[in-house]
Amino acid sequence: MSDRIVVTGGAGYIGSHVCVELLSRGASLLVIDNFANSHPEAVTRIQEIANADVVLLERDMADPAHKTDIVKAVKDFRPDGGIHLAGLKAVGESVAEPARYYSVNIGSALTLIEALEAANARTIVFSSSATVYGEDNANPVDEAGATAPTNPYGRTKYFIEDMIKDIARSDDKWRAVNLRYFNPVGAHPSGKIGEDPNGLPNNLFPFIAQVAVGRREKLSVFGNDYPTSDGTGIRDYIHVSDLARGHAAALSYLHQQETGCAIDVNLGTGVGYSVLEAVAAFKRASNRDIPYEIVPRRDGDIAEIYANASLAQKLFNWRAEKSLKEMCADHWRWQSQNPDGYTD
Ligand code: UD1
Repeated sequence: MSDRIVVTGGAGYIGSHVCVELLSRGASLLVIDNFANSHPEAVTRIQEIANADVVLLERDMADPAHKTDIVKAVKDFRPDGGIHLAGLKAVGESVAEPARYYSVNIGSALTLIEALEAANARTIVFSSSATVYGEDNANPVDEAGATAPTNPYGRTKYFIEDMIKDIARSDDKWRAVNLRYFNPVGAHPSGKIGEDPNGLPNNLFPFIAQVAVGRREKLSVFGNDYPTSDGTGIRDYIHVSDLARGHAAALSYLHQQETGCAIDVNLGTGVGYSVLEAVAAFKRASNRDIPYEIVPRRDGDIAEIYANASLAQKLFNWRAEKSLKEMCADHWRWQSQNPDGYTD
């Protein structure tokens, strides 16, 4: 791959794995990150793993004062396209501060779109989420499933998807894929990069991992009275390295398109696991105890969701390959080698 790609949010959990994947395929990268929820050390480690350098621009995609710099840097980089991952992602915080979520997430996406337009590189892969689906879909959920995000964070993802489609409709030079990720977990097999959440983790895997490593006493399991096999919520966990390959596959697909397009594509395994199955798998992989207690359901959670990922297979020739066991083993390697994340 001789592509030149702009990766916004490239130092983050998913972004860092995307960078490693693209670099290992020979791409050149301009990473734009403001390190709001990521660490410069991640960029150092990306370069170590891939044995290649990236161009790093430390700027805030949503700050109007940074826009001129960003547009110029992107233009000077002469990219073939961009992958947009920069944004805020905490559901609870988005309910408390919706205006900030709309401003940062939508503002960031618009800045990249403007910069790519100025660079005459109208190809974009957007980091969307299965959170855009409501709870009324039958599983497995395909891309035609009803969309009804339940919180401001989810609505920013949904609005950006639509915005990208409007832009593509107005100008057929645009080629776009909105990747609807299911639940990304795991880490690069080297254990050098992984998820390093700020403060109390919101998501299941980073929480389990911090319990396993002794940073937290026990996991709270949010409800065991769902209509599922063991009563706990079921999700489609996908290894972050499989997800990263999905981005490379989406870019290759877009580069082959001769006319404009904007499509939504699920990235998941197609298999759902319950919270208690995930805990048991992590326990086996880490050989550590994971104490937990059952607490009431978390507001906004749904019982069960997993992907129909056949569109990604059909269009991109991509499918998830890594098992839950590998997700747990790799997540644990990262957590045990970096008990305090990037700050140690
Ligand atoms: C959450 C977000 C979603 C976001 C995704 C990113 C909500 C409602 N949804 O999805 O918008 O795109 O993360 O990965 O926050 N669980 C526990 N204890 C915990 C944490 C989670 O029991 O401490 C359970 C949840 O109830 C759920 C499962 O584990 O059944 C997965 O939760 P989580 O990792 O937070 O992902 P989602 O809720 O699917």
